Amino acid sequence: MNTPTLPPTAAALSGRHVLVGITGGIAAYKSADLVRRLREAGAQVRVAMTEAAIAFVSPLTFQALSGAPVRHTLIDADAEAGMGHIELARWADAILVAPASADFMARLAGGLADDLLSTLCLASEAPLCLAPAMNRVMWKHPATQDNAQRLAARGVHLFGPASGAQACGETGAGRMLEPMQLVDALGQVFASERLAGRQVLITAGPTREALDPVRYISNRSSGRMGYAVAEAARAAGARVVLVSGPTALPAPAGVERIRVESAQQMHRAVFDRVASCEIFIATAAVADYRPAHPAEQKIKKHADRLSIELIRNPDILAEVAALPKGPFTVGFAAETEELERHAREKRKRKGVDLIAANQVGNGLGFDREDNALVVYGEHDVWDLGTADKRELARRLIERIADALEKRGTAP
Ligand code: C5P
Repeated sequence: MNTPTLPPTAAALSGRHVLVGITGGIAAYKSADLVRRLREAGAQVRVAMTEAAIAFVSPLTFQALSGAPVRHTLIDADAEAGMGHIELARWADAILVAPASADFMARLAGGLADDLLSTLCLASEAPLCLAPAMNRVMWKHPATQDNAQRLAARGVHLFGPASGAQACGETGAGRMLEPMQLVDALGQVFASERLAGRQVLITAGPTREALDPVRYISNRSSGRMGYAVAEAARAAGARVVLVSGPTALPAPAGVERIRVESAQQMHRAVFDRVASCEIFIATAAVADYRPAHPAEQKIKKHADRLSIELIRNPDILAEVAALPKGPFTVGFAAETEELERHAREKRKRKGVDLIAANQVGNGLGFDREDNALVVYGEHDVWDLGTADKRELARRLIERIADALEKRGTAP
């Protein structure tokens, strides 16, 4: 018998953690082949089944095919001792529920977490993909259609269903896609996420350098650019840690935020995390100097003149760029004049891979919704144009992914 060859998109699955969810439906027998194909594509697979799924196919089948224990109950002290359900939800780079029954889709649409699989779906930030499989009348039912639309609007990927002969003897829409089609569809989801599985560390916002317990030196940075970059990196599939100076912005969904105040705290937070990151993007407007001797008590206004001695802060970006096996580094250069010359000099002097330069002053740059960016690499220049900061952040993330691919470190 000929073994079908994997689709080209399967390459994007290599090394990925795929959690396959199986719900109750006769199509569950095809999921055994799906698990095999995913592993052939180089993915690590774990399987979680609903109780109804177990009536169709034995967990043992999936244990043998996935090479890992199969979970089906939420309250299972032994299984939780191995890999807890929250850990499993975090482990997944994607969840693929195949087959997804009408009942399971309804529970997901309603946000229920009344069994292990629905809990995993709710507790995970990874892309969620469903391969619906059900009788054609159930699929066509307004309730199911309504649930499918609600899920799609939330960003859930729906693979299929296909039309054709059904196990119940009817013909129509509701058949689960074939395993190879599911491998292809999941590969496409990963391929569109250009930083899938990458660890990205980002600094954002201003820093505050204390003069005394109530006063500080700071700058006009709003943090918007850095937060937009964090959001765009997350949307591209990265795991994002955002080290943020004081801002009023909410943390982007799915991003781990560490709040700091001063440059020294930012430095510490970055060096706590830098070893595990592959990309470091410094968007923070770090104060170059801090008061050498911050007063322990509030400074009183006795003297006519007051001098404050300032000392240099560590250059976080330059230090990260100088690490022997450091991450890919991206810095920002906000300049009021001679943008290109200063940006190129800064890139070289700090030893960073890319510098995103923007003009500031005269109402440009800081504390605004839009911005204009030009990115300089050693050999490349990309003008990202003028746009709102979220759009510019998306373009910047694309360029970073291009540069990484060019370097040959693509996933
Ligand atoms: O030298 P300059 O402050 O203009 O460099 C700007 C770039 O360096 C930004 O990416 C900023 O986040 C980073 N930087 C830093 N630590 C500093 C100063 C700047 O990481 N102390």
